[in-house]
Amino acid sequence: MSYKAFKLSKYPQGNITPDIFDMVTLAKPTLKEGEFLVKQTYMSLDPAMRTWLQQREDSYLPPVRIGEVMRSYGVGIVEESLNSKFPVGSHVVGVTGWSEYVLGNEEMNIIDPSLPPEAVLSLFYMTGLTAYAGLMKIGQPKKGETLVVTGAAGSVGSLVGQLAKAQGLRVVGIAGSDEKCKWLVEELGFDAAINYKSDNLDAQLRAAAPNGVDVFYENTGGPIQEIIFSQLNRFGRVVVCGVLADYDNEVPTKGPSWVDINLKSLRVQGLIVTDYQDIADEAFSVLGAYLAEGKIQYKAHVTEGFESLPEDLIKLFKGENTGKFIVKF
Ligand SMILES: NC(=O)c1ccc[n+]([C@@H]2O[C@H](COP(=O)([O-])OP(=O)(O)OC[C@H]3O[C@@H](n4cnc5c(N)ncnc54)[C@H](OP(=O)(O)O)[C@@H]3O)[C@@H](O)[C@H]2O)c1
Repeated sequence: MSYKAFKLSKYPQGNITPDIFDMVTLAKPTLKEGEFLVKQTYMSLDPAMRTWLQQREDSYLPPVRIGEVMRSYGVGIVEESLNSKFPVGSHVVGVTGWSEYVLGNEEMNIIDPSLPPEAVLSLFYMTGLTAYAGLMKIGQPKKGETLVVTGAAGSVGSLVGQLAKAQGLRVVGIAGSDEKCKWLVEELGFDAAINYKSDNLDAQLRAAAPNGVDVFYENTGGPIQEIIFSQLNRFGRVVVCGVLADYDNEVPTKGPSWVDINLKSLRVQGLIVTDYQDIADEAFSVLGAYLAEGKIQYKAHVTEGFESLPEDLIKLFKGENTGKFIVKF
């Protein structure tokens, strides 16, 4: 039996284009002792994929190499197994690849088959852990403070804002359309939302955060970054989770001034989710409880079809998704 996969054929120059991937047909492997074969059913599309195509060796993961299957996270079902820990029929989540079938790995987690895959990928895996760890461990939110989150209508940002509301903060979201802003305020309960593609952003943020900003959860970078940074209060915390607007740039945009960090006693800390695996159980139990209590909700942007993966990834960078971008095979 054969299956389809996408391999990297060249590194992108700037924006991702579909021609950097080659769709190939591969033969289903014959398993060796200890191996298991997973039929991937739902695959997550993540901005991190762009960083995995940056040719740098000092990041938290090596880049995907030319000729390798593109890396991803996904959910699937074990179809063949010579590994007693992963029997046939198990539902798993883990590092998969742009591939209809993947050889399983020991780091995969067996999941409750009654959980919708959208919930797993939106809450109970990397996205949920990123939002929880970044906000709670780095942002250290306190009741009554003000949080501003960029990429607010994305999968991480929408969760961060809701989690911060549940801690009693004033929450301001930054997103790329009026429709997304409306969703954040009317459906998710954000106190305010600002379309970063509109005018007078400085004044809009002052009005939305009249007491200044205590926690800045950064998902995107871009020109709005400087405005938020300038409105941080003393002892403000900046969670640098992602800098999406810069992933395509050969030379990253210059960051904020150390003078402000010094004079306002700010704390600026980067985040890589895989460094927080030890608190995954804590994160998922809090997220699960908030979901059950109706304090948080998740939205999945699900498309169907394996062959359009390159075009779908491009749509993610154009902001066509609200919530978690997932492709169903
Ligand atoms: N550090 C970690 O371990 C870790 C883990 C997971 C995610 N992340 C990072 O967290 C960030 C959010 O990830 P996510 O999974 O929530 O993403 P997502 O759900 O795919 O949302 C991404 C959203 O970002 C917005 N965007 C795209 N290009 C932009 C630009 N140039 N400027 C401003 N906004 C832009 C788009 O919405 P608009 O319409 O609003 O523009 C898009 O829908 C990313 O930077 C990602 O790399 C980091």
